Amino acid sequence: MSDNKTILVTNALPYSNGPIHLGHMLEHIQSDIYVRFNRAIGNKVFYVCGDDCHGTPVMIKANSLGITPEQMIEITSKDHDEDLKGFLVKYDNYYRTHSKENEEISAYMYNKAKENGYILTKTISQLFDPEKNMFLPDRFVKGTCPKCGAKDQYGDNCEVCGATYSPTELKDAYSVISGAKPVLKDSLHYFFDLPKAKDFLHEYIKNSGCIQSEMANKLEEWFEQGLKPWDISRDAPYFGFKIPGTEDKYFYVWMDAPIGYFASLKNLCEKTGDNFDDFVKEGSDVKMVHFIGKDILYFHSLFWPATLKAAQLRLPDNIFVHGYVTVNGAKMSKSKGTFIKAKTFLKFLKPETLRYYFASKMNSSAVDIDLSLDDFMAKVNSDIVGKVVNLASRTAGFIAKRFDSKLSDKPNNKELLDKAASIKDSVIKSYSERNYADAIRTIMALADEANRYIDAMAPWVIAKEEGKDELLQAVCSDGINLFRALITYLSPVLPEVAKNAEEFLNSTLSFDSLATPLCNHSINKFKPLFTRIEKTQIDAMIECSKEDLKEAKKAEQKVENKTSEYEPLADQITIDDFAKVDLRVGTIIEAQEVAEAKKLLKLTVDIGFEKRQVFAGIKQAYTDVNSLIGRKVVLVANLKPRQMKFGLSEGMVTAAGPGASEVYLLSVDSGAKNGDRIH
Ligand code: 2FM
Ligand code: ZN
Repeated sequence: MSDNKTILVTNALPYSNGPIHLGHMLEHIQSDIYVRFNRAIGNKVFYVCGDDCHGTPVMIKANSLGITPEQMIEITSKDHDEDLKGFLVKYDNYYRTHSKENEEISAYMYNKAKENGYILTKTISQLFDPEKNMFLPDRFVKGTCPKCGAKDQYGDNCEVCGATYSPTELKDAYSVISGAKPVLKDSLHYFFDLPKAKDFLHEYIKNSGCIQSEMANKLEEWFEQGLKPWDISRDAPYFGFKIPGTEDKYFYVWMDAPIGYFASLKNLCEKTGDNFDDFVKEGSDVKMVHFIGKDILYFHSLFWPATLKAAQLRLPDNIFVHGYVTVNGAKMSKSKGTFIKAKTFLKFLKPETLRYYFASKMNSSAVDIDLSLDDFMAKVNSDIVGKVVNLASRTAGFIAKRFDSKLSDKPNNKELLDKAASIKDSVIKSYSERNYADAIRTIMALADEANRYIDAMAPWVIAKEEGKDELLQAVCSDGINLFRALITYLSPVLPEVAKNAEEFLNSTLSFDSLATPLCNHSINKFKPLFTRIEKTQIDAMIECSKEDLKEAKKAEQKVENKTSEYEPLADQITIDDFAKVDLRVGTIIEAQEVAEAKKLLKLTVDIGFEKRQVFAGIKQAYTDVNSLIGRKVVLVANLKPRQMKFGLSEGMVTAAGPGASEVYLLSVDSGAKNGDRIH
């Protein structure tokens, strides 16, 4: 049992420019189980998270959607919060890095670091988009790989040959944002002096026990390669916080992202009345624990402790690193439908199915976790439904019908109930070490034993025998008490099932009360606590993820069109294909507004040999209809007539522009006559 610690638990902050998917969920589920378990054994936990709002990708995405980054953050943050709650991840505060608290703490830490000699400046030369007037992060430059010649590779590495290089080495480089050829431009940058923190960091990683040894070994390689000053500034335009004392320099997103943990905590403390400084001061007795993925190890184990040290603040006690999620043995794939968004999962399946499956595979190492969908279905159905819930469903009915819902006053198999209580230490040890897989193994071994016992006693047979009521009640009560133990142990993983079990058992679950089985105790009506996963649910989820991909592609296309300002070129056609489109010169001889339609004008176009009625979506662009009379236009004359609500449309007048008020009719030079064909 614990000696009642106070723990601050954080989870990596999801970026504001994308949805939560199952890759994120591994970590949120891992940390939520840790928090629920710690609370169950009496520790006090502050559990915070929030959105990581700053940086170029967020700025560009918002821009392409025609909204401000602040508006985008607002929308995404609600969405993320909803998804996480959907998976029963219960943060005390879900906040954001774009907040007054974060700005304040970032400025404080920067000023302290500066005071302590950790801030350097240097002029560097970087690729610059001359059309958009902005410096380009590596991911926003593409070109031909200098090593293998593959086209359209990112500025930092080639996805074809795996080479890494600097964006200036790319051939035929272009800006992903405007398509322009980038130029080199000088700018003053601010750096955090990481080498100055090297000895301290080395000692911290090697000897504090803050990180798994496999990760410490990985870090050792980085120490051997040498640490470089860390570029913490970005030039405008940038969505972030201005660096104190500068006019046009902003903190790089990774500078203020982990500070966001503190911002979320500070915001929470403002609501709870707790003293924020007690958590963050050097020597604080609150344990600080970060859950992260192995891709952001460098930021959390080097940059973050170094900036904390430079600002004379406390250090993390633990950095728990996990691996990636794979699905069916491979990287999550959008085209296979295995890149599954949290929302899509929840549309078809219960959150606790994934919580259980991930828990059953998670240990304290950073190995990847595979969501093998067949195994997922089999394990959840066999363990939760077949072994745990079934124990209650097979015995509760007899207690209700034959014993007025009352459990017996003494167990039949005391030995087994004692055993159920005795695995507590082992389960606690496994959870404490984040070896959830081990905890689940121990719990399921007990479930197997409990089921074997009920099978052997066969209460459904005893129930038919005369004079065996006492035995029947005791055996069924044992079943209920064993179920109670199993659910108590599983409660950090299955909180909703545990809550419903409390209602059924008419008793609060706690690790402490396991040694005392429920005797002479009235229970409530048993309601199904979990339903089996059907294959159709999984198939539907995969199909829906494929649809998600199509939607995302369309949205991306829109974004790309908007950012590059040009619609992508359509597939190539032959001259014969073009000849199929009969374009004719015509003159608008009548133009009327269609009162019920927001966008339409009704035009009559004279094309020499006949007059055509055409409904054109140009109302917002041509508000003075009379100005159109007599105007020469190009009409698609062989377009199949379309019956519209307001009448028949017999062709289409050609126009360019994005839409609404920006639509421009094509003109024809004088000399061309109505009815002339355009070749
Ligand atoms: O990798 C990521 O998704 C980052 N947004 C994580 C940030 S964690 C913390 F530093 F904010
Ligand atoms: Zn290459």
